[in-house]
Amino acid sequence: MEWTREQRYRKIEDISKEEFEALEETVAKCPYRQKFHIQPKTGLLNDPNGFSFYNGEYHLFYQWFPLGPVHGLKYWYHVASKDLVNWEDRGIGIEPTEYFESHGVFSGTGIVKNNELYLFYTGNTRDKDWVRHPYQCLAIMDNEGNIRKIDRPLINKPEGYTDHFRDPKVLKSDNGKYYCLIGAQDKNEEGTVVYYESEDLLNWTLKKEIDTKYKGNGFMWECPDYFELKDKGILLFCPQGLEPEGDNYHNGDNSGYLVGDKINFENGVFNHGEFIELDRGFDFYAPQTMEDEKGRRILIGWCGLPGVDCVTDKNGWAHNMTLPRELQLKNNKLYQVPIKELESLRKNSRRIEAILKNEDKEFEGFNGTTYELICNFENITGRYVGVKFRKGSNEETVFYYDLEEKKLVLDREKSGEPTVLEFGTIRKCHMDVNKLKMQIFVDTSMVEIFINDGEEVFTSRIYPSKESTGISIFADGFAEVQAEMWDI
Ligand code: FRU
Repeated sequence: MEWTREQRYRKIEDISKEEFEALEETVAKCPYRQKFHIQPKTGLLNDPNGFSFYNGEYHLFYQWFPLGPVHGLKYWYHVASKDLVNWEDRGIGIEPTEYFESHGVFSGTGIVKNNELYLFYTGNTRDKDWVRHPYQCLAIMDNEGNIRKIDRPLINKPEGYTDHFRDPKVLKSDNGKYYCLIGAQDKNEEGTVVYYESEDLLNWTLKKEIDTKYKGNGFMWECPDYFELKDKGILLFCPQGLEPEGDNYHNGDNSGYLVGDKINFENGVFNHGEFIELDRGFDFYAPQTMEDEKGRRILIGWCGLPGVDCVTDKNGWAHNMTLPRELQLKNNKLYQVPIKELESLRKNSRRIEAILKNEDKEFEGFNGTTYELICNFENITGRYVGVKFRKGSNEETVFYYDLEEKKLVLDREKSGEPTVLEFGTIRKCHMDVNKLKMQIFVDTSMVEIFINDGEEVFTSRIYPSKESTGISIFADGFAEVQAEMWDI
């Protein structure tokens, strides 16, 4: 179905109760609804927003268009959790009601001050010629969950940038001041990050651009984030439109980071290394991080991409979140470790040990549609070792290590209903090891694969039929394997 502009910019109350219930019913019948990932009850979910720990709970908001699987008038939807595993539905968080957000409450962050949660977001507007005018705005949540808006934008777009100016990330620096990082496109149509300074979170002064050496890569940098780990500064952002380069950047829009010395917010200087892609799979974008009360830096991302269709569009919804991942910095690289709390989902453990010699083997009890599977491969030699899962007649998703090429490979060519074929069916990345731990979370229609405790991660949607439940472990060569799995 083609969506007209008018249909995309309707509010939830613009359709009848019956129409909305019919949509809910269509979504509920979809065979691809996830079991343990955050997903929209109807319509389209995209970026995580306002991810924070406040008043004894984790809060997560997300970009939501309620009325169908398209990018229309965006709301912030709110979910909350005590453990990052079981999420409670808190309903609409911020809805577009004011002139400065007439075309959507776009992405932003949360920061706690004076026992209230400050939620910064971009008010997206369009004029009668459909020209975009972005504003950076603030809503404040109190400890009863009431959200009030400040009735004027706090930041207008400065000279020197196009109307792509959005996604405020607000943080408190060691010097006691607040900084607001905003994703921007400069007049040469190159992506960058602009930042502002404030003493009180209300009055903001324009500083300058973060002075990275990575200018000119991508036409727009969306969703900037910045944090410090082990005395290093990490700038995370999503450059749009990078050209593929070897195994990198095959998703059209990409997400990655720079690690360097801490940013000097007095002058914007940031000395850093290479840009590193965060996730190697087919579906990952717009991640956001927060620090919790245990001092962990936790990331959650959007399992989806801008501008691509989703197999579930026909069922009235699209996309979901990734699992929360704890970030650790090792050798100037971010490792993403599935948070410990996820172990509470594990049911019915089974375990095997085997020696594989040129074989592809199934094991008693190793099957399912939603589960966690950990495979440890040791003393590997030969050509390939790996796992096939969601196997059925003519279907399988294959993840393996190619010892000759020294590459990890995810192949979703036979993963079920095809999707986004224009970006190919294989994703790869380099790794040089003789020992491998694959930790694989399979939900109804997605997979997250963590290699060697988060050194590399592959996040992808897959659309197998519910009969495709098989798992096999293979070695084209030799491997000692020990595996354990749990239903979820
Ligand atoms: C990234 C993004 C953001 C924007 C939001 C709108 O996916 O385009 O830049 O704020 O989504 O939904």
